[in-house]
Amino acid sequence: MGDLNRRMANEYHKIPEFFEKAVELRKGINSNTYRFFNGIGDGLSGITLDKFDKHYVMQIFNKDLEKRAEYLGIKFLSCIDAQYFIIKLRSSSDGLSLGHTQMIVLKDEPSSSETVVTENGRKFFIDCNDAVNNGLFLDMRDNRKKVTDGLRDGSTMLNCFSYTCSFGVYAATNGCKTVNVDVSRKILDWGKKNYELNGLDDDEHQFVQSDVLEYLDKALAAGEKFSCVVMDPPSFSRNKKSHFSAKDSFYTLIKKSLLLLEPNGTIFVSTNNSALSHDFLHSCLVRAAGDTQRKILAFNKVGQGKDFRGSGKVRESSLCGILAWID
Ligand SMILES: C[S@@+](CC[C@H](N)C(=O)[O-])C[C@H]1O[C@@H](n2cnc3c(N)ncnc32)[C@H](O)[C@@H]1O
Repeated sequence: MGDLNRRMANEYHKIPEFFEKAVELRKGINSNTYRFFNGIGDGLSGITLDKFDKHYVMQIFNKDLEKRAEYLGIKFLSCIDAQYFIIKLRSSSDGLSLGHTQMIVLKDEPSSSETVVTENGRKFFIDCNDAVNNGLFLDMRDNRKKVTDGLRDGSTMLNCFSYTCSFGVYAATNGCKTVNVDVSRKILDWGKKNYELNGLDDDEHQFVQSDVLEYLDKALAAGEKFSCVVMDPPSFSRNKKSHFSAKDSFYTLIKKSLLLLEPNGTIFVSTNNSALSHDFLHSCLVRAAGDTQRKILAFNKVGQGKDFRGSGKVRESSLCGILAWID
């Protein structure tokens, strides 16, 4: 047996022990959906396991481990009570090719790939077979709460790059009027279903299919104002008209957001781009505030929840964000 195989065999042997520790660490999370196992932070590098109630998604980020995907999946599956279990092979995924991810379903009885989860009292539709994501970015759980806890009846939220509108659902259940903007109609329709699932009237909220920069210009021209802006762009994206890069666009996105923000408003900016940092986001915010004559009253640097153990050090988890209060 080669050195690598011997090391791996030793580590696989410890999977039940790693799981026991992982479960202990996640006690107290107010949700039936979270990252159940986060790579090296929980003992095994290159593997993550996301829990969506009794549905589980395992991701493998390493070519050698991918060769043993089914064996590893069966080992993981034997330690949990799963109704659905899928493995996604991510070693060649680079963000732009996530749609081509290879997937292996290990268990699909008695459930289909779809389920509903509850996070901090809000419900969300999940589809474990979606190649790109499953409907809810689990690493944002704590931030969804932090950003929306202070928003009450009468507040307004602009949720840019809204995906399935999870920030919007949190804000709307706190009594806010929300505008969700995303380039994908399919994703916005998923977001509308999430509103309905939470007993919210989607006619009282907006689901705008648009490029965010184009929307911001229109909103500025129309004199719109918001109490809170959420700006969580993808690292890169392409559409028919343009290429988008978070690094190149952050300053402009923040500047336009500040122009749309009411006095005493809040702005949340974040990125999963491991090449960007809190300092980068903060410098964009400071420059944009200076250029729009706005004052930053206070700000918090935020990251991921305790289920994303070892965050920031591995490719599979690297969220950084800033929540700021603006005069
Ligand atoms: C990182 S996700 C946002 C996650 C979301 N903030 C959340 O927490 O659930 C990126 C989203 O941006 C959308 N998107 C990508 N490029 C866009 C653009 N130029 N304008 C508007 N939406 C865009 C994608 O369709 C995708 O839903």
